[in-house]
Amino acid sequence: MALCRLSNKHATICSFPFGAFVFILGPFLRTFAVGSAPAAAFFMSNPSSDTGRGNAEPVIRLQSVQKSFALPSGEVFDAVQSLSLDIHPGDVFGLIGKSGAGKSTLLRLINLLERPDAGKVFVGGRDLTTLSRRELRDTRQNIGMIFQQFNLLQNATVFDNVAFPLKIHGRHSRAEIDARVRECLALVGLAEKIDTYPAQLSGGQKQRVAIARALAPRPQVLLCDEPTSALDTETTRALLETLRDINQKIGVTIVIVTHELSVVEVLCRNVAILEKGRLVEQFAVDAPSEERQTALGREIDELVRRREREAREPVEPRPTSLRRNPEEVAYV
Ligand SMILES: Nc1ncnc2c1ncn2[C@@H]1O[C@H](COP(=O)(O)OP(=O)(O)O)[C@@H](O)[C@H]1O
Ligand SMILES: [Mg+2]
Repeated sequence: MALCRLSNKHATICSFPFGAFVFILGPFLRTFAVGSAPAAAFFMSNPSSDTGRGNAEPVIRLQSVQKSFALPSGEVFDAVQSLSLDIHPGDVFGLIGKSGAGKSTLLRLINLLERPDAGKVFVGGRDLTTLSRRELRDTRQNIGMIFQQFNLLQNATVFDNVAFPLKIHGRHSRAEIDARVRECLALVGLAEKIDTYPAQLSGGQKQRVAIARALAPRPQVLLCDEPTSALDTETTRALLETLRDINQKIGVTIVIVTHELSVVEVLCRNVAILEKGRLVEQFAVDAPSEERQTALGREIDELVRRREREAREPVEPRPTSLRRNPEEVAYV
């Protein structure tokens, strides 16, 4: 855990990933125009013109990235091994694999929370590995991130949580921040919770606040690390709908790490399967399935085919009289 202190109002404890993010972004953000015309133009772009199937230049390109960790035993563990991947604008891209496969490490390579030992990471056409610390901080405004445990600032209201990335940027008037926070909360269906604190919210609502916060600086890319793993089935379903809705409305590219195949089936257009730090299979979720190479790939395929079958053959409601039990019928 890291201690993150909001300089103006609140002393707050948050867990490492967002803490690291805030620490890095902290007092230095100056040059990326959050409300700038190009960002706004992208924000309003229509994703239906490109659904992440490869018609445009990739918004994320990983080129032979590699990441190893030194273990306490002195051994070196290869978490991500010479992995290349393109993700296109407007896509909803799933990264799946067993626990320890390297999914979170790969996701964190995309915003350089983990710096690759080798290889290049392009986001929006810029190679992040060549940027100065300051340029990297600015570029990270273009990459939102949400986590399994939400990582909200507990002592800040919903408004202050969502406003936080805009306030530390320091370029916005109060009125602009106010308008943007309300816009983002409306997008996740939480407008009425603006003055509440995280402790007063359900898990699903906390994750929506985290999404609103991640979207506040109008990023091109939203990285999601197991965003539904702490939620029950019903809340998961609602949150996935929200993510899909956001993708369709504003065109933000979503990269989602999950171990839940149903999340891939419901939300993703494309998926990559990781095993032991390697990309072993990649496919479009709705594409014909003859060549699936992995067990996980085949399982996803079964889910997709079942959904298609159910859509083709809707279960007919039985005639009213048949649905009644004999006692009910006796009273007709
Ligand atoms: N900072 C670290 N130091 C040492 N090992 C790490 C570190 N981060 C991740 N690992 C190891 O790398 C492997 C992949 O981790 P991770 O990317 O978190 O996997 P996943 O998200 O697929 O469960 C795991 O075996 C994990 O223990
Ligand atoms: Mg993980």
